[in-house]
Amino acid sequence: MTRLMTLKNVALILSSALLAAAQQNIDTQCPGYNATNVSNIRNGFKADLVLAGNACNVYGTDIPKLSLTVTYETDNRIHMKIIDPANSRYEVPESVFPRPSSWGGTRTSPNIKFNYVKAPFSFTITRSTTNETLFNTTGFPLVFEPQYLRVKTSLPARANIYGLGEHTNSFRLPPGNTTRTMWNRDAYGVANETNLYGDHPIYFEHRTTGTRGVFLLNSNGMDVKLRGDDNGGSLEYNVIGGILDFYFLAGPSPIELSKQYAKLVGLPAEIPYWGLGLHQCRYGYQNYLEVAQVVANYSAANIPLETMWTDIDYMYERLVFTNDPNYFPMARMREIVSDLHARGQQYIVMVDPAVGVKPGVSTAYDRGQALGIWMKNPNGTNFEGLVWPGVTVWPDWFNPKTQAYWTNEFALFFNPETGLNVDGIWIDMNEPASFCEYPCANPSAEASSQNLPPSRTSPPPDKTASLPIGTTIPSLTASLLKRGSNYTDVLNPPYAIGNVLPHLSDRTAFTNVVHANGLIEYDTHNLYGTMMSTATREALLTRRPGKRPFVITRSTFAGAGAKVGKWLGDNLSTWDHYRNSIAGMLGFASIYQVPEVGSDSCGFGGNTTETLCARWATLGAFNPFYRNHNGDTSISQEFYRWPTVAQAARNAIDMRYRLLDYFYTALHQAHVDGTPVLQPLWYQYPTDSNTFGIDLQFLFGESVLVSPVTQENVTDVSIYLPNDYFYDFKSYTFINGTGSTTQLTNVAYTDIPVYIRGGAVLPLRVSSAYTTKQLRQKDFELVVAPSKSGQASGTLYIDDGESLEQSSTYTAQYTYKDRKLTVKSQGNYNVGSLKYRNVRILGLSGRPNNISLNGQNVASNMVQYNDTSKSVSVNVTQPLKNTFTLKWS
Ligand code: GLC
Repeated sequence: MTRLMTLKNVALILSSALLAAAQQNIDTQCPGYNATNVSNIRNGFKADLVLAGNACNVYGTDIPKLSLTVTYETDNRIHMKIIDPANSRYEVPESVFPRPSSWGGTRTSPNIKFNYVKAPFSFTITRSTTNETLFNTTGFPLVFEPQYLRVKTSLPARANIYGLGEHTNSFRLPPGNTTRTMWNRDAYGVANETNLYGDHPIYFEHRTTGTRGVFLLNSNGMDVKLRGDDNGGSLEYNVIGGILDFYFLAGPSPIELSKQYAKLVGLPAEIPYWGLGLHQCRYGYQNYLEVAQVVANYSAANIPLETMWTDIDYMYERLVFTNDPNYFPMARMREIVSDLHARGQQYIVMVDPAVGVKPGVSTAYDRGQALGIWMKNPNGTNFEGLVWPGVTVWPDWFNPKTQAYWTNEFALFFNPETGLNVDGIWIDMNEPASFCEYPCANPSAEASSQNLPPSRTSPPPDKTASLPIGTTIPSLTASLLKRGSNYTDVLNPPYAIGNVLPHLSDRTAFTNVVHANGLIEYDTHNLYGTMMSTATREALLTRRPGKRPFVITRSTFAGAGAKVGKWLGDNLSTWDHYRNSIAGMLGFASIYQVPEVGSDSCGFGGNTTETLCARWATLGAFNPFYRNHNGDTSISQEFYRWPTVAQAARNAIDMRYRLLDYFYTALHQAHVDGTPVLQPLWYQYPTDSNTFGIDLQFLFGESVLVSPVTQENVTDVSIYLPNDYFYDFKSYTFINGTGSTTQLTNVAYTDIPVYIRGGAVLPLRVSSAYTTKQLRQKDFELVVAPSKSGQASGTLYIDDGESLEQSSTYTAQYTYKDRKLTVKSQGNYNVGSLKYRNVRILGLSGRPNNISLNGQNVASNMVQYNDTSKSVSVNVTQPLKNTFTLKWS
């Protein structure tokens, strides 16, 4: 929900023009600092930085003396911190962002080096092996003022920069003229070039000689500017508070860099296995019968539905922790949930952070009010704004009583015995979003003028009607803490970042809101969503101890993936948004370490079309988080609404579910060491510069290449295949990638082109199923896709799919070399009677003469050779626990 006013836009344009003028002078007029008193510390050094000349006071008074610390924290990570020793300044609290542990030994062979010049102070980061310069502030004076910090580095011409989200720009940011603003906001329509819901001040810069990363640990508003032309470029941080807290990461491979970043911000949380199934949601389901009907319709249409969702519609007058007794009576809702559970399906509802100020009506409000946990104005009164229920207050996550409050509200309302027995939680509006523009002088008048909460338009349903979800689940057959002390103005800071709204406080909590620990919203705004995520995860953990919480949030800060998953917010049902959802998802899954991510399939705002929804049903199946969600005023778009869409969904879910354990294994690996679960092509082809700008194709795991059709109403797509071996996922046909563009034609609306990269052994379920619980009972087949050198490998990880701590797990390693596949398993997890039914070897030159299993010849009736695809399928029927070899000649 965002309304922009033309006048305000004009003001914004004018102020950015003034800003640009002021900024041009910084390079030449600001004095920078001189480094003095340099002394060694363990694994690094410290120094004083003293203003090197007349202050330039560009957006405040230059701070005369700073303190610099540089530490080699690991051989791949340098930490550089600059603070004002005379005034304590805000730093992202350890409670929100725990600092990484660093190895205590002496650095022997750092892969990157910090070099500096004393006067004026400038520094470079260089790569030890190649001597390349990776970061270079020469010629760009450091500026450190109470509310303006500036650091600028030169970049090579046409640098390949990724990250700096959340954004809907291209995945590789245009290096010539991009400004990435970090100020979390409710961003209906997710326009590109604007600040969106999340703040991830990390960028990866890729060169054929290596990839490296720079993370600025700072939650204040900022603009990061990329400028340049064919002769060279620059990247400039303009930050309006806090301190300079940089981490430089060495890479050099994109995967190593991802792992280094994960170590720094926190390894991603594991999600339950069922979280990977298809989710159905919409804003605007009128009553409990409609919700039940959708579940029934999915099963009647034979489209596997894993989890049903309900938006704020279930609430009484849109108050959190309530249900509408007429439209969503608790007894009937509990029945729906039990029916879902009985069929192995799940249920999720939304919880917003804003609590309606309705004493006596909202008990959640009354309890919070008694505890005094709401965010406060500077004068100590509750800060009030406007959200769905009308006038609201917000929990202050910094208040030590808030976690217990939140946990208690969950225990009461989501009580498995008496309340809504949900399986996961969807958290939203946590930028935090408000519908009121600053100064929002009279929230209750605003609430009336905005008709909040809106009155129900339809009559309540029959409360005794029988639920329509009695259809049995079809069995699918196999087919396819310090506060800024010297800020002068937190409401209108001297440097205005490029927030699309004129004031930082527009449509959110005001920047002068004071938290219980004394921190102000000006500094901590961008942390609100992540703090709510942590609190919600904790509340779910208390409610179902030992079970992995499933929480999907809208607003994130760096490190959020350690707690929650994320959906990409209020996109529109347009082809543009379909296309840029790939870059959005790659940002989270391949850079920010929030692997459980996806866009609203078929689009949220506006009306979808049959062909867009069909294509999105297939693309969504390759989003880690796969959900169809829709706006309240849009036409219905459940996948069963059109025959083509229904078929597209069935086909794509079939592929997804057969691949689900391969993908679950990738998510587990991400949790263990940060290996990204989705990858842009250049992660696997880092020296092929043709791949650097590709963001309409991506790798699902590291071995499945997804190349969706990306234009409206066409059945062809031009795709890039690197110089490598590929195999069609469905027909198994070999495709020799030549590092060129290929035109695919006749791609039906019910289809999506998917290839296996040579070099992979994929464990697939032999067939799909209606629910993931059923899927877990299906046997496996192994698909061997040899690389150019005739080798392949793969892994399979299985656990119980839901426990936080696993007492036992199963892991299998597959190695294929010299025409021999070796399968080795380990671990005590009870895989029951699951088997490897068959092994399929792709890319043969002809029918094998002889095939042996564990040294014994395999009878010919156990072998099926396909002359068209040049592949062979061998029935092996080996228990999952077995170690076995399959050899052919
Ligand atoms: C926000 C969410 C959207 C949701 C709506 C109503 O706009 O982004 O997904 O449907 O609020 O709760």
